[in-house]
Amino acid sequence: MNTKIVILDEDNIEQNIVNEAGLVIREGGLVVFPTETVYGLGANALDSIAVGKIFKAKGRPQDNPLIVHVSDFNIDHLVKEVPRIAKKIMNMYWPGPITLIFNKSNIIPSVTCAGLDTVGIRMPSNIIARKLIEAAGTPIAAPSANISGRPSPTDVESCIEDLSGKIDYILGGDKSEVGLESTIVDCTCTPICILRPGAITVEMLREIDDKVYIDKSIMSKPNKDFKPKAPGMKYRHYAPKAPVKIICGDLTKTIAKINEIVQTSIGNKKIGIMATDETKDKYPYGTVISLGSRKKLDSVGRNLFEVLRSFDAIDVDLILSEAFEEMGIGVAIMNRLKKSAGFDIIYV
Ligand code: TXA
Ligand code: MG
Repeated sequence: MNTKIVILDEDNIEQNIVNEAGLVIREGGLVVFPTETVYGLGANALDSIAVGKIFKAKGRPQDNPLIVHVSDFNIDHLVKEVPRIAKKIMNMYWPGPITLIFNKSNIIPSVTCAGLDTVGIRMPSNIIARKLIEAAGTPIAAPSANISGRPSPTDVESCIEDLSGKIDYILGGDKSEVGLESTIVDCTCTPICILRPGAITVEMLREIDDKVYIDKSIMSKPNKDFKPKAPGMKYRHYAPKAPVKIICGDLTKTIAKINEIVQTSIGNKKIGIMATDETKDKYPYGTVISLGSRKKLDSVGRNLFEVLRSFDAIDVDLILSEAFEEMGIGVAIMNRLKKSAGFDIIYV
């Protein structure tokens, strides 16, 4: 398939291009577009044939539901009801990096929600995303625009690498601002529950509801009782080609352990190290890439998937990563890191 690729300037968006991409969605095609979290692969959420094409293009398991993206607050036709608590969250954080789960209405086809009675809805803040939804004139179902299992794309180049030739249109913009997928909050239960941590943190949501909690199954290693409420959280995910190992604990001990592993494998393995601005000069061997500053964990979140992908490009055999404190956005960072490592963690 011939994929049309157009990269827009987010400060000077060409409306005719957005209209063209919107028409592709309306006519049942697939369009990649930027959002503030990660890039999405969109189709008309109300068209089951179009949505089916997303699963095929990504190689996505059929039991993993999609998030429906909207450009205005009126979602009454998409859901059975909007609970009061959800309204509060929407008023505070939409448009933005948070998805809310509702009981779905009948106009949303079963394939969009992988057969569930619920639907995840989000209003992105990225201007191209919102203009595209408006131009399409329909809500857009969109997973992250990567081949299933790979790290989510935070720039248009990664989308081109994964999906060019498999879809109709790639609409590019800037690098994603957040770099981690949206927080998902289940609003069908009381108290509400976080199914996937993201930039809107549990601490922020506690300001609205002090009983909100994080689904326990998502931060620990999968086991037979591991049944995360977001089906997608059970898959090995966010994974580069090389295995990832996390070294977790006191930072001085972490550095020593990473250097020890690198030194014992010199000569037979090419090792990548995910370090931070504060530590990157402490590793004399290995290919060192900094995720950003420990003082600005937002920047670590923004760079994480891009760094994981860049190790693929230089073909390392093993990636060693430092860990981060599970607080604020650190919860989301560690959730993605642990999943990319298949929960292979050395505690020091
Ligand atoms: O930031 C984001 O949310 C990005 C951008 C493109 O908006 N999208 C994204 O989609 O991350 P995806 O498909 O990669 O992840 C969607 C997650 C999956 O873990 C899925 O299981 C969960 O959302 N999900 C979707 N609908 C759900 C539902 N009704 N109930 C529980 N989990 C749901
Ligand atoms: Mg994804």
